[in-house]
Amino acid sequence: MNYPIWYLPSVGGGAMIAAIAVSHVFISHFAVGGGFWLVLLETRALRHRDQPLYRFTQSFARLFVLTTLIFGALTGVGIWFAISLVQPAGTSALIHRFVFIWAAEWVLFLVEVVAITVYLHSFGHLAPRRHLIVGRVYCAASWLSLFAINGIITFMLTPGMASQHSGLPRAFFNPSFWPSLALRTCLAGLISGLFVAIFAAFLADRDLASRLIRMTAGWSLLALCGALPAGLWYLQSLPVPVRTLTEGASPTIVRTLAMGRIALWVLLPGSLLALWRPARIGKAAAMAGLAAGLLLMGSFEWTREAARRPYVLYGDIYSNGQRADRTTTEPFLPTAPWSRSSSPGRELFKFQCYACHTLGGLNNDIIERTRGMSQSSLAAYISQLHAIRPFMPPFIGTAEEQHALAAYLIDQQPTSPDTQTPLARPGSQP
Ligand code: HEC
Repeated sequence: MNYPIWYLPSVGGGAMIAAIAVSHVFISHFAVGGGFWLVLLETRALRHRDQPLYRFTQSFARLFVLTTLIFGALTGVGIWFAISLVQPAGTSALIHRFVFIWAAEWVLFLVEVVAITVYLHSFGHLAPRRHLIVGRVYCAASWLSLFAINGIITFMLTPGMASQHSGLPRAFFNPSFWPSLALRTCLAGLISGLFVAIFAAFLADRDLASRLIRMTAGWSLLALCGALPAGLWYLQSLPVPVRTLTEGASPTIVRTLAMGRIALWVLLPGSLLALWRPARIGKAAAMAGLAAGLLLMGSFEWTREAARRPYVLYGDIYSNGQRADRTTTEPFLPTAPWSRSSSPGRELFKFQCYACHTLGGLNNDIIERTRGMSQSSLAAYISQLHAIRPFMPPFIGTAEEQHALAAYLIDQQPTSPDTQTPLARPGSQP
């Protein structure tokens, strides 16, 4: 490990990234789908000379620009801070590999910001045809920015045959690139439609509200119908060990996928009802729809993150920043320049377990997970982490270091050592 760790034991790095990333993912997909909605609504308003719809499009554009530019930019920068503090090794590897894609991404962001600002401020001033062209430029740039980042995110999970030295196209167009792009495009359409529906539900003009809600319901159904096969296609593109995790070997994923199913059971009948009786959809129902959409999207992102375990870059770098080709029996602490020698157990936890476990926190608390274990059984467990639980990386270090870590973790237990019983459930599902 060549980087220091930003250590917040009771919060956990994963929770930090998740909190920022989940909100960024929502906003960024809204930014992609929202452009499509603006062009769609404006085209309709112009074609039917529909003044109320035209005014709605204009005020929606204002809200859209505010949320996507401010929150999108804040959380986007936030993600960079969080990943470079929590996953420096993975971030560095990705930057080296995809530097041109990232450069292209920033150019696309610039085009997006300029286009959407011009679009908003030239509403009613520019000739309609030209105004729509500006809207389409925004749409194209924002979808292409999804296209670009999609190559990097999918590479993290499915590098496929791309080796360290193979070219950029091979790494970028990796096995899950196309299914993930299809799925994300559908999700962007779904999320942005649900945002439009909320905005519509607050309108005083109930006739316009009903028309808009019916329209968003139709598009949401279409997006869902696209997202389901795209999701299955995506699962098919995953390597077998990852698929096994998503099919039940990981308790975290099983819980997350159940959330996704609940969301689907809200969205499918909800969209049908909205299509049939749009006037029945009030503010609360629209908000429940958006909440379900966000839950669906969140469960997909969480599953993808969890399915990548124990890696941050599949097959190459583990979630705790260690390279997968390291010998696991070599002494660890002497090779970790940022560790302090005062508490070897604490340092081993920090560098090898903290990426996924908190110490007394909410997310995957190690104190909770090691309750009732004795020091020697925990040390034995640590030597077999990856064999017992394939979603954990192997422990790197000597037998002495295994014992130091076990002793440190047992020390954190609130109960007295006399009450401990040996661990008797390797391989069992918690
Ligand atoms: C890549 C992520 C990751 C890393 C790194 C990791 N763990 Fe885990 N660990 C998990 C997950 C996920 C679970 C299961 C959580 C659940 O029950 O949902 C788990 C569970 C456990 C359990 C509970 C027993 C069991 O079989 O469920 C112990 C003990 C444990 N980890 C110890 C460690 C130790 C010690 C380290 C550091 C040397 C470590 N883990 C590193 C992800 C990780």
